[in-house]
Amino acid sequence: MNKITTCVFDAYGTLFDVNAACRELSKEVGEKWNELSNLWRLRQVEYTWLRNSMKEYIDFWKITSDALDYAMETLNIKNSKLRDELLSLYLKLEAYPEIKSALENIKNKGLKTAILSNGNNKMLESAVINANIKTLIDEIISVDECKVYKPASIVYDLVEKKMRVNKQNVLFFSSNAWDMHAASTYGFKTIWVNRFNSTLEKLPGKPDQIINTLEQIEKILKN
Ligand code: LAC
Repeated sequence: MNKITTCVFDAYGTLFDVNAACRELSKEVGEKWNELSNLWRLRQVEYTWLRNSMKEYIDFWKITSDALDYAMETLNIKNSKLRDELLSLYLKLEAYPEIKSALENIKNKGLKTAILSNGNNKMLESAVINANIKTLIDEIISVDECKVYKPASIVYDLVEKKMRVNKQNVLFFSSNAWDMHAASTYGFKTIWVNRFNSTLEKLPGKPDQIINTLEQIEKILKN
């Protein structure tokens, strides 16, 4: 990709597996673990959008715990020890297996790397250290800095501000289609990492390329 100097990654779902916490404790959660995981993630994301509209920002850790409480209550899972264990696993979510070599590949090409995420700094630092990729990420950028969630354009502004780069030189990766649509509309080049075999949203913006995992990064950087 011509002119790209900086690769920016969404965190949850793109680098880190949001289903890992419930999967790890699937024995304790029982047969509803998958349903719990999906509802937890759905409400987590919805609460960010709703709070944006309400102008009621609260950090992503609280959003994540509120969403888990809602999901557990809905599925009638009453277990406070399990709740605390699920939440602490969220601080060290399993990373997708290919991300380390993908990031190494990018760094070897002399490009800069960043994470741009709804997560707060503590959550992101912890996940990055757990995945052993700290030295491969130049900048961790959290929405906590502007106190508004994606897909508000002020969030994507943080990249230019923190990395001293023009948006046309940024390649943004997200597995969340809505995040990719917004970043593309904003003016980044975008890659949709379609890990879950989903459908593009009916929203403005479109991906410059679609891949299924970050293993395909070599191909993208060649073009
Ligand atoms: C993030 C969410 C959107 O990491 O996955 O920002």
